[in-house]
Amino acid sequence: MVRELEKFFKSVDNGNKNATWNEAAIRFHMSGNALRKRYKKWKDGKTKNYQNTVQDGLWICIFDAHVPFHNKRMFESICRLIQDIQPKGLVLGGDFLDLHSLSSHDKGKTPVPGMTLGKEYAEGNSVLDKLELYPFKQKVYLWGNHEARYDKYIRDADNSKIRDAVRSPLDALGLKRRNYKIYDNYPYDEFILGDLRIYHGESFGQHCAYSDLQKLKKSIMFGHVHRQQSFLERDLEAYSVGSAADHTTSGFSYAKKLQKQIWCNGIAVVTVIGGKSFVETIKYKHDKLVFGGKAY
Ligand SMILES: [Fe+2]
Repeated sequence: MVRELEKFFKSVDNGNKNATWNEAAIRFHMSGNALRKRYKKWKDGKTKNYQNTVQDGLWICIFDAHVPFHNKRMFESICRLIQDIQPKGLVLGGDFLDLHSLSSHDKGKTPVPGMTLGKEYAEGNSVLDKLELYPFKQKVYLWGNHEARYDKYIRDADNSKIRDAVRSPLDALGLKRRNYKIYDNYPYDEFILGDLRIYHGESFGQHCAYSDLQKLKKSIMFGHVHRQQSFLERDLEAYSVGSAADHTTSGFSYAKKLQKQIWCNGIAVVTVIGGKSFVETIKYKHDKLVFGGKAY
């Protein structure tokens, strides 16, 4: 039904004179007015936020890959899962890049051997190229605090002198060319998927799903804390998804052993039906993602 509606709206857009509203209204069991309203929403969705009717289907959500410190084996599992379930949408929920080279924490410290901003961007592009092999209809890239490192770096008085020579993540990853819908105003931006608000996350509280839900009183999904948690209360749901990073790499050498022990890898699969989101978080463990009774 949703696909048929979309087909009809596209034919209207393409100036198909055979597409008559009255016939279509009968076909889709709705009044002419309701159909026109739905068309307007769909139209708006193409240029602003994706609308619910357009979002119906499977989505895969990946947070905190911290490329080039991403979990490479996990990404292979993610790709096998994508190949199998063919999601219509992809959400990269922030900290896809680590931008270790622009970190203010590491100012004056010995860099990770061989690491440069150019290499980080090259690796980021190589991961995006692999994801590009799958025919996502909608792709979303949210900024996390690590992408925001670029903005912070450029705002610095000395660094601002070289701002035209240092490429932004948006530019270096070719996100517009790759057709990503970009949300780069961290930490304020959020992407609405069905009835779920997706944002990168900014606090590190121990019971983050519970505490963010109490503050926001909305159904939410976020990353940032590299932990998997959920808290459900009445009709509201909160999910902390887990990361797609390799916490054993040098990019995380700043973290203490006990801190890393509570981190975990995970992704979320969201099925949107009639504008409502149904969330399944999947923990990556024993080198596997298990979904729908199958190991990837
Ligand atoms: Fe983060």
